[in-house]
Amino acid sequence: MRTYLLSVALAGSMLAGVAGLSVTMAADEAVSAAKFTADGQVMIPENWRQWTYVGTPLTPNALNGGEAPFPEFHNVYIEPSAFAHWQKTGTFANGTQIVKELVLVRQKDADDMNADGSTGEVSGVGYFQGEFNGLELTVKDTERFSDEPGGWAYFSFGHKTPPYAGMAKAFPTESCNACHESSAADDFVFTQFYPVLRAAKP
Ligand code: HEC
Repeated sequence: MRTYLLSVALAGSMLAGVAGLSVTMAADEAVSAAKFTADGQVMIPENWRQWTYVGTPLTPNALNGGEAPFPEFHNVYIEPSAFAHWQKTGTFANGTQIVKELVLVRQKDADDMNADGSTGEVSGVGYFQGEFNGLELTVKDTERFSDEPGGWAYFSFGHKTPPYAGMAKAFPTESCNACHESSAADDFVFTQFYPVLRAAKP
């Protein structure tokens, strides 16, 4: 029995090696997918802060007439197996998950803050990260989300301090997907703002 299994495995890997056709498929299959409830809501990912960090846009109130829609830092992370696929192929596999966690600009006592919300720290005057304040997720799945352009669906687990919601419904296409489709550099993802993804693209 043991010999039989071994030879099947060997034959399999030799075939894959010779045919060279399993590269893309294997990578796609290896991407770990999001979990969904029976009624189609996505579950909040586990350990997203340990995913691969890709970049942090910042749109502070002071530069947005005092009322930025997202006055926080936007820390963006991609699920590691999806990152490995990106590194290998320069494309986002089916199953790719990317999160954006919002982090408030660090606050201090009024006397220690400048009018533009910046603070002076030992490294200089600027904006420093304070508290977590929201979590969004996008998932690419051309089967589950066959009605969404590009197969990308968008979710929010709350724009507030943790704990975040445990699950979330997909937003309508016009709320999120449309802007990503028209303005993101690479397959609905804003790689123009993510140096880690640009550097890793083959
Ligand atoms: C008006 C344009 C616009 C709309 C509408 C929009 N986004 Fe985005 N989104 C961006 C930009 C620009 C970025 C790049 C990072 C940043 O600046 O925050 C981004 C990045 C993201 C990311 C990180 C991955 C990526 O694709 O770059 C997620 C997740 C995300 N948005 C979720 C959402 C959700 C959820 C909604 C709807 C509630 C939404 N977005 C609506 C412009 C938009």
